[in-house]
Amino acid sequence: MDVGAFLAMLWPTVLTALWLMLPAYLANMMPVFVGGGAPIDMGRRWSDGKPILGPGKTWRGLLLGPLMACVLVGFLRWLVVDTGWGRMGAWSTWGPAPWWFVFVYLMGLGALVGDAVKSFFKRRTGRERGASWPVFDQLDFVVGCIAFAALAAFLLHATGLTPTNVFLDDWTWPRILAIVVLTPGFHLLVNVIGWKMGLKDVPW
Ligand code: CTP
Ligand code: MG
Repeated sequence: MDVGAFLAMLWPTVLTALWLMLPAYLANMMPVFVGGGAPIDMGRRWSDGKPILGPGKTWRGLLLGPLMACVLVGFLRWLVVDTGWGRMGAWSTWGPAPWWFVFVYLMGLGALVGDAVKSFFKRRTGRERGASWPVFDQLDFVVGCIAFAALAAFLLHATGLTPTNVFLDDWTWPRILAIVVLTPGFHLLVNVIGWKMGLKDVPW
């Protein structure tokens, strides 16, 4: 296969994969805006004397982040699905109404739970809030999101709420590979922009 044919095959996979991950990307970006207030660990410390998760992980960020992602994804979904403006084809709808909302929320929640679990291990390894931890900082939320998405889709299907398993419908191996390979660079780029805009203290 020549390079042109390979790229022609790659693009649809890459673009539909990034679309599929929008709930996680948006949920992961939102806490900077909607976070604050009580920390998840309520300021408690682990047996090593360091914070369990640290003050950068708050309940508002964890619970409102996915909700904001639902609102934005809902708008996009409405634009391309419900108005009949776009044909979805290979582009995920995250499931039929109203269950896409639950699925998208749980994708976002999974992303932020993955982020919080990462912070737990960051604190245990002596890294302060906001310290950089390459690879883990970029892929924590991908792992959390995919785990929650797989479980949520299984439960929605097993209980008969959705006619198909929406995870198996959309999450092909080439897409998962594209997400894992491209997310770190994408994540870094978004954080540098957020830092330049003064939203984040550090560029990672
Ligand atoms: N945030 C929040 N609640 C969350 C996650 C994030 O309020 N569950 C907010 C915090 O203000 C945090 C900011 O979003 O500082 C950036 O998130 P992140 O980079 O994940 O946190 P860090 O401050 O870098 O903390 P850590 O070192 O634990 O990753
Ligand atoms: Mg950070």
